[in-house]
Amino acid sequence: MAKRLLFTTALLVPALMQAQTSPKLGKQSFGKTSDGTEVFLYTLHNAKGMEVKITNYGGTIAQIKVPDRNGKFDDVVLGFDNLDGYTQKANTAYFGATIGRYGNRLARGTFTLDGHTYHVPTKDGANSLHGGLKGFDKRTWEAKDVSAKGAPALELHYLSRDGEEGYPGNLNVTVRFSLGEKDDLRIDYMATTDKDTVLNLTNHSYFNLAGAGSDTVLNHKLMLAADRFTPVDSTLIPTGVLQSVAGTPFDFRKSTEIGARINDNNEQLKLGKGYDHNFVLNRSGESLALAAKVEEPKSGRVLEVLTTQPGVQFYTGNFLTGSIHGIGGVYAFRSALCLETQHFPDSPNHPQFPSTVLHPGQQFRSTTIYRFSIE
Ligand code: GLA
Repeated sequence: MAKRLLFTTALLVPALMQAQTSPKLGKQSFGKTSDGTEVFLYTLHNAKGMEVKITNYGGTIAQIKVPDRNGKFDDVVLGFDNLDGYTQKANTAYFGATIGRYGNRLARGTFTLDGHTYHVPTKDGANSLHGGLKGFDKRTWEAKDVSAKGAPALELHYLSRDGEEGYPGNLNVTVRFSLGEKDDLRIDYMATTDKDTVLNLTNHSYFNLAGAGSDTVLNHKLMLAADRFTPVDSTLIPTGVLQSVAGTPFDFRKSTEIGARINDNNEQLKLGKGYDHNFVLNRSGESLALAAKVEEPKSGRVLEVLTTQPGVQFYTGNFLTGSIHGIGGVYAFRSALCLETQHFPDSPNHPQFPSTVLHPGQQFRSTTIYRFSIE
């Protein structure tokens, strides 16, 4: 018996060591786009069992599986298990996608750069939203396994050509997803251009820490490291004012239940049909800083968002109506929340906002980390 145990252990130990040191990046077909291009679903695992699935269609995070306080793993982002889910007309939600060239809205799809006025396609009423009619979320990205020792990583690359969706300059964009042992998913964005252009890249994951498909996120508690936010007009374009959150339902400086004030008689909440606003992060410089912390009391799951970006769009899934079925079932009104780290919406039309202009010879870089834990 003892001998057998010794033998089994001798076999197991090297296997375990191997599992801990070698990163794992799985790859499987995810179907073909309408032009016949095959796209893939990549799986990043860490040694603790966390799993992230990403497709190179749209640079999209399709699943994130993390444990609850009893060790039960659930998928905590809204998504689909097939490509058709992402390409169907009914899906206007941008689940998990990489957003660009310009994330969020540009008023009337217009901006002026170097004295030239550019017009980009509008779609959200009179405004442009999330990069136009065929933004980065609907493009096929080149994928490369860049896993290093102990850290599975996927690098996606896309060349957005001069004039694509009306934007100037050939823009080379690289987005690298890497999964750490602290249950941290790190996203590094890099971009260069050959002409002056505007750029606002983000990831549009929808989180529900109780598990995708659970009812609302109104019981989640949220902390946002923001003294100010950017109020909007009736078309959700920032008015240009940086308003203090003090004494308003936008004050999340102390962790507060998302549902506590969402139905208050507040003009900004009415315009957004809930929270759909950019928060101005309290930060100095461009180093990584904690932007948000979300806690779900029943599962004990916690999500911390760290970023180098100046803003975060906090959106409570107010446009979800229950018409979309995904892996987690029906995605109902306010059944998820987004924390889109970004520059402020419509920045090119607000010279007082941090600049979103990228010049040739410059390298754009930004990083966001989604870190999961249990309390
Ligand atoms: C962003 C916008 C929202 C909505 C979603 C996508 O968060 O601010 O108004 O358009 O994307 O549905």
